[in-house]
Amino acid sequence: MSLKINFNGTIEEDSRISVFDHGFLFGDSVYEVVATHENQPIFLDAHLNRLANSAQGISLTIPHDKNWFVQQIDRTLEAAGNRESYIRVVVTRGVGDIDIDPSSCLRPNVVIYVAPHKDYAQDNYTKGIHVALVSIKRNPKEALNPGIKTGNYLNNVLAIMEANKLGAKDALMLSPSGFLTECTTSNIFLVQGERILTPSLDCGILPGITRNKVIQLASEHGLPVEEGQWPPETLEKIDEIFITGTLKKVMPVTSLDGRSVGNGKPGSVTKKIMRLYDEYVQNIHQA
Ligand code: PDD
Repeated sequence: MSLKINFNGTIEEDSRISVFDHGFLFGDSVYEVVATHENQPIFLDAHLNRLANSAQGISLTIPHDKNWFVQQIDRTLEAAGNRESYIRVVVTRGVGDIDIDPSSCLRPNVVIYVAPHKDYAQDNYTKGIHVALVSIKRNPKEALNPGIKTGNYLNNVLAIMEANKLGAKDALMLSPSGFLTECTTSNIFLVQGERILTPSLDCGILPGITRNKVIQLASEHGLPVEEGQWPPETLEKIDEIFITGTLKKVMPVTSLDGRSVGNGKPGSVTKKIMRLYDEYVQNIHQA
């Protein structure tokens, strides 16, 4: 089991990036986090498509095609030889002048991290986690569209710091117009009786790949998900909450702002979605 870094196609144990890289200086980069099943990447095509969209969203030309990424990820996974891996793909604007204008950056840097995967403690799934609705707002779409997965996560860093101070594991953020958006690295779903609600993409959220799969699986199993703009008052009439993300998968939220959600235990709809998602991933390479 080991950590390997693929730096522009060269696999190393560790790498150094220039202090003149605009990814470091200005957060001028895009990235993806990919999970594995049986140490093969899952939903890789969707992640590489989102990476390409993110790059387009910040006018960054990636010097490689999708196939190159697939091959480099495979090589790096093989070199690391883990049971399961955490894959992080970062494309930065590259090295340039110390100047906000990126026109001096001639070549993006591509870094692929492959590390041993660490599971979240089982407690998070059996008991659920505590989330806080924080005062930090999600970035406005018109400023830095949360639909673009950039390396500029300071908004979310501040939000999770605020949540931690409140004794919560994650932060739920509102949009500048006051609607529920998402957590710092996950999307959110609310269960109200038979209804499942989730913020729509136009609220200013990342189009989560897990979110998308959950919406599909839920509707295939008679649980249609309603996407919309939900004000924070919606949270007062909620029976269950769960969050979704590549690393967290489907994780129950059983406490919100220090108060129990429903009976304070993962609810039946959440458990059903957790099971459907796990079963889907277990069978993913047979599909
Ligand atoms: N984060 N919202 C935000 C802000 C995210 O950063 C992520 C993913 C998600 C969930 O998206 P997906 O289901 O495609 O992972 C939602 C990754 C895991 C991260 O940055 O670590």
